[in-house]
Amino acid sequence: MALFLDSADLDAIRSGMQLGIYSGVTTNPGLLRDIPREDRLDHLGAIAKICRKSIYAQVELQAIAKMEREALTLVEVAPGRTIIKVPMSPEGLQLCQKLRSKNVPVCMTALFSPSQVFAAAAAGAYAAAVYVGRLFRKGEDGTGVVRKAAEILRAQEMQTRIIAASIPDIEALNTLMTIPGVDATIPASLQEPFLQHAGTQEAIDEFKKLSSKK
Ligand code: E4P
Repeated sequence: MALFLDSADLDAIRSGMQLGIYSGVTTNPGLLRDIPREDRLDHLGAIAKICRKSIYAQVELQAIAKMEREALTLVEVAPGRTIIKVPMSPEGLQLCQKLRSKNVPVCMTALFSPSQVFAAAAAGAYAAAVYVGRLFRKGEDGTGVVRKAAEILRAQEMQTRIIAASIPDIEALNTLMTIPGVDATIPASLQEPFLQHAGTQEAIDEFKKLSSKK
């Protein structure tokens, strides 16, 4: 599983990337909402400077030709490592094919079902982002949808990566980590519970006491 940091906060990205556990950063319009529209490209550029790995940047919802132009601009933020997120819709699938023909990698996003993941893969998406937490909030089995979608892609020998997004807690992440071929993007708020445990803290406190006795 490749793990991504779902954040547009430069400090969170700086400290997160130093840990060596992330394969890149995912962003979305919600995460960038506090950045004025005219500064967003520069902000993504700043993220790309801190994160030398993959950057996921989402197009705004508009007519296909405009989204295509925006995607071609976004991809220049970090050529060769920018993946364009495109929300799922008939227009989005069309855009996915257009961008694929120009060798621009696409992540179809806002996916809630295995069949949508299949459609994203069939349209040539490099990745497909499933909103796990939002599925749970709708009373559906978020991790189960990812598991089924991953089985389908494996059965059909499709290479599209599934990115589990909108992850609600560590329990869901632990379940997702058991599914072969699935990546995940986590909010900065999950980083601490991902890395810490009360037992570790107790052990560290003991080690500190022992060190200070020397
Ligand atoms: C991926 O980048 C998604 O946009 C994001 O994980 C959605 O998370 P949310 O459901 O917590 O808004």
